[in-house]
Amino acid sequence: MSVFGCIRHHGGRALKVPTQLAANCGNTPECMDWLNRLPATLRELECRWSLSLGAPFDCDEVSCAWVAPVARRDGTAAVLKLGMPHMEGAHEIQGLRFWNGDPTVRLLEADDDLNAMLLEQCVPGTALRALPEPEQDIVIAGLLKRLWRSPSPPHPFRPLSAMTAYWRDETLSRAERWSDPGLVLEGLRMLEELPRTAPTEVLLATDLHAGNVLRAQREPWLAIDPKPFVGDPAYDATQHMLNCPERLRSDPCTTICRFADLLGVDPERVRLWTFARAAAEPRDSWKGDRLTALARAIAHSGVV
Ligand SMILES: Nc1ncnc2c1ncn2[C@@H]1O[C@H](COP(=O)(O)OP(=O)(O)OP(=O)(O)O)[C@@H](O)[C@H]1O
Ligand SMILES: [Mg+2]
Repeated sequence: MSVFGCIRHHGGRALKVPTQLAANCGNTPECMDWLNRLPATLRELECRWSLSLGAPFDCDEVSCAWVAPVARRDGTAAVLKLGMPHMEGAHEIQGLRFWNGDPTVRLLEADDDLNAMLLEQCVPGTALRALPEPEQDIVIAGLLKRLWRSPSPPHPFRPLSAMTAYWRDETLSRAERWSDPGLVLEGLRMLEELPRTAPTEVLLATDLHAGNVLRAQREPWLAIDPKPFVGDPAYDATQHMLNCPERLRSDPCTTICRFADLLGVDPERVRLWTFARAAAEPRDSWKGDRLTALARAIAHSGVV
């Protein structure tokens, strides 16, 4: 049985809030406000979109949103997602509109101000994590290549450099905690340089990993949870690579080259991006952390 982080009042019923989401909401006053308003927001959407809510999904994958299966008035199933305010996730709704179900879940209803989405439900919804990593590589590469399309201006999407600049500022503000300043500074330099040297720019999912790819019926696999930015396709390889830490640490070259080859992107750019994130992306703890160890392994796998 799931352990929930907190229970809130929801029109006479108890509203369950997943553990990881509750913990993340404690980090900023804006997210605490969002969490405090969640019961009222859910009541409003339940009524406006004629929904009966099920119990929210609660697993390690749920960290930035309240997500639950729902039944619509006509009896069909869907999923309600309310995203907590956070920099990376600001344009999920606009991204789902742009991709329009190809190869993401479809957006059935949305409220941009509330960052609320009614989504096509993936059935059975098993995460791609259930498959061995080499098989995940093939599915994720196929989805990414379909996602990489160029939005025509005017569009709402931010450049990838906006996210890397945000990460640089966060990391620089914690300089006293770094365990390996030389490594972090090299990573920061690349986070600044790589967006400027992109050979081409497309709309990226930025968070496509095997936990955000679900088994479905309309297609074998659909992507959920995009965090769209416009930039270098090689960047989009990094989230899956970082989610395969054992393979990446033990044989960085083979792991990265195989995936880059499936994607048709430059393996050296994938390696540099993965190094930059592992070395310098913000994190809760910098001492003996898993990402720093990965950055060292990647740095030793070639000339960074
Ligand atoms: N359309 C869907 N169909 C079926 N299940 C879904 C759907 N969307 C989300 N889920 C379930 O809810 C979980 C959390 O959804 P999602 O990944 O969108 O939330 P998140 O908290 O933003 O994730 P992250 O922590 O990666 O930012 C998924 O792992 C999946 O189990
Ligand atoms: Mg997710």
